[in-house]
Amino acid sequence: METDEDSPVNDMKDVRNYSLLGNNTFGIDVCCSRFIEFRSTEEARQTARILNSENTPFIIIGGGSNLLFTGDFNGIVVRSAIKGILYEGDGRLCCGSGEKWDDVVAYCVSNNLYDAENLSLIPGDVGASAVQNIGAYGAEVKDIIETIEAVEIDTANVVTIDAADCQYAYRRSRFKGEWKNRYLITRVTYRLSTGRFDPKTEYGNISGELCRQGIVTPSAEQLRQTVIDIRRRKLPDPDVQGNAGSFFMNPVVDRKKYESLAKRYTDMPHYQLPDGKEKILAGWLIDRCGWKGRSLGRAGVHDRQALVLVNLGGATGDEIVALSNAIRKDVLEKFGIEIFPEVNIIPK
Ligand code: EPU
Repeated sequence: METDEDSPVNDMKDVRNYSLLGNNTFGIDVCCSRFIEFRSTEEARQTARILNSENTPFIIIGGGSNLLFTGDFNGIVVRSAIKGILYEGDGRLCCGSGEKWDDVVAYCVSNNLYDAENLSLIPGDVGASAVQNIGAYGAEVKDIIETIEAVEIDTANVVTIDAADCQYAYRRSRFKGEWKNRYLITRVTYRLSTGRFDPKTEYGNISGELCRQGIVTPSAEQLRQTVIDIRRRKLPDPDVQGNAGSFFMNPVVDRKKYESLAKRYTDMPHYQLPDGKEKILAGWLIDRCGWKGRSLGRAGVHDRQALVLVNLGGATGDEIVALSNAIRKDVLEKFGIEIFPEVNIIPK
């Protein structure tokens, strides 16, 4: 595919009073004072210079699938529209930060590049995959990211960052912490396996689903399709009902806490982590608090997956936050566990 370097620099998308309705999958109807979209590294540098010269708050967004606006954003919203999926040989795939993540997975599966298939159908862009360390079905994108190319906002210089320096952990990275608003990510280079396909099917109901279809050793294509089928069944389509996937992160508790809970709730699902701690499933905790399928105002809890909050139509960000707070309070009271949103809540 083409790289973006030939894109013109002077007609970069830069719009005042811009509606963000199409830029957040929750479907919250808010505006920002200014919206900038860069299509090349050069435009990203130009954007960095604008951010430096304007003394205005800004946020960098991707596909808007992990965002909740609580009101109009009085500042600049920046988004990458850098395209390109370029195979560089030796398993390396260099992708523009504005590509749709799932298009990258589809490319990998059709080109015998493996280890991305469990992350099929996760909404969002390539740039956000590296910020958020997206994960599903026993896989995390950190395991296939090699380097990240970005423009450092302060200097407008182009830098290359090794994945090893990003302090990746469950849904976390330095880009979300100390490096927040420091870089405009322009490209992510993934390193995929090219040899024999070694499917990861242990997590969740993947193997059960494959078994039902009579598949013993799935191809990458079959594994991708299975993940897609499971996600479509469980997760609401944001084009039909506004949502941002899992609203909460799964909490991690120490052994003592886990053992006291396990005595009372013998059916409580959990995963033991390598450090001996236990990951408890927030969907189960919320479900057990009786929230599944319930609503507060125009904000609801999805009826097939309690971890997902939905916009029942015309909800404001504050209504979703109010629902989230009510759920958090109940989970804390019933189980003594604090759960935290995975979704990035943007204050007014
Ligand atoms: N459960 C319930 N009731 C519910 C939902 C879940 O009891 O309403 C229990 C069930 O025991 C179920 C278990 O919780 O088996 C786990 O649920 P699920 O397999 O749906 O996974 P999850 O832990 O809820 C995580 C990710 C998802 C990812 C799936 C599959 C987080 C916060 N979420 O969900 O990621 O797709 O695993 O691997 O880690 C996302 O980040 O937006 C997202 C959808």
